Amino acid sequence: MTPKDYHLLLQCIGWNNRTWAVPISQVINKTGVLGRKNIHVLELGAGRVSTLGALFFRNANHVTISYFNQSMHKPVAKRIDKIFPVAGDTDYEKHFAQASVLDLHGVYDVIIMKSVLGGVFRTDQSRQNINTFLEAIVANNLADNGVLITVDNGIPFYARLISRFGARGAHWRYFRPEEFSGAPFQFCFGLIGAFSLKTRLGRFGQLLEDLIHLTDRVLCGIFNKSPTVIASAYVKPAATVTQVKQV
Ligand SMILES: C[S@@+](CC[C@H](N)C(=O)[O-])C[C@H]1O[C@@H](n2cnc3c(N)ncnc32)[C@H](O)[C@@H]1O
Repeated sequence: MTPKDYHLLLQCIGWNNRTWAVPISQVINKTGVLGRKNIHVLELGAGRVSTLGALFFRNANHVTISYFNQSMHKPVAKRIDKIFPVAGDTDYEKHFAQASVLDLHGVYDVIIMKSVLGGVFRTDQSRQNINTFLEAIVANNLADNGVLITVDNGIPFYARLISRFGARGAHWRYFRPEEFSGAPFQFCFGLIGAFSLKTRLGRFGQLLEDLIHLTDRVLCGIFNKSPTVIASAYVKPAATVTQVKQV
């Protein structure tokens, strides 16, 4: 990822971007998806604060940015225009659509989603095996050599503590890295940070976020059992064609 791409990624993420950018940039670099040309990319569950689809405008020729609720169209389109105002030196097609990860149609070279699965499979509704679910998407909705990237909240070491204080009332599901067992590539980051303090506390919150990020950078390599952000990539292998020699 070039510095220009990294800068764009930070803008795409929106809140607590430096923490989330670490594993996202690693998984993007490892899978090489930004180096592929003429591909069709689908972003699922784009939000008003964060939408990763714009990251692909430079290389893909077809990017579909989808949201779950139609009401999200205007805020998402506005955000995209802010992040990536002009096509400039690129030649891409941008589409907006309503889509659900539970009812996916079409075949794509790259599917990407951030902070979507935790809300779709809330702990009070489902103990769905996430790996089986994602492997079905790989089989049905990825082209050969296609890549599915999902970026999700991990279970922090302080999860029990905050649940005592009434956090997580919405039963958001947090994941363990090994739940994405079929992903050949996975990068994790964060010991403390994942949430946005800037949006809650303004400049003071930003300062705290910066401090937490520095701490995470130092400590994450040592204590990495409970990462706060998990970026996983599933890959669909190209179909192998066996030629049978006629005699
Ligand atoms: C926490 S927000 C994340 C938004 C954005 N991706 C981000 O990282 O800021 C969860 C998003 O998932 C979307 N969502 C909920 N159910 C969904 C589904 N079945 N398929 C796709 N997206 C869904 C919601 O509309 C919401 O925008």
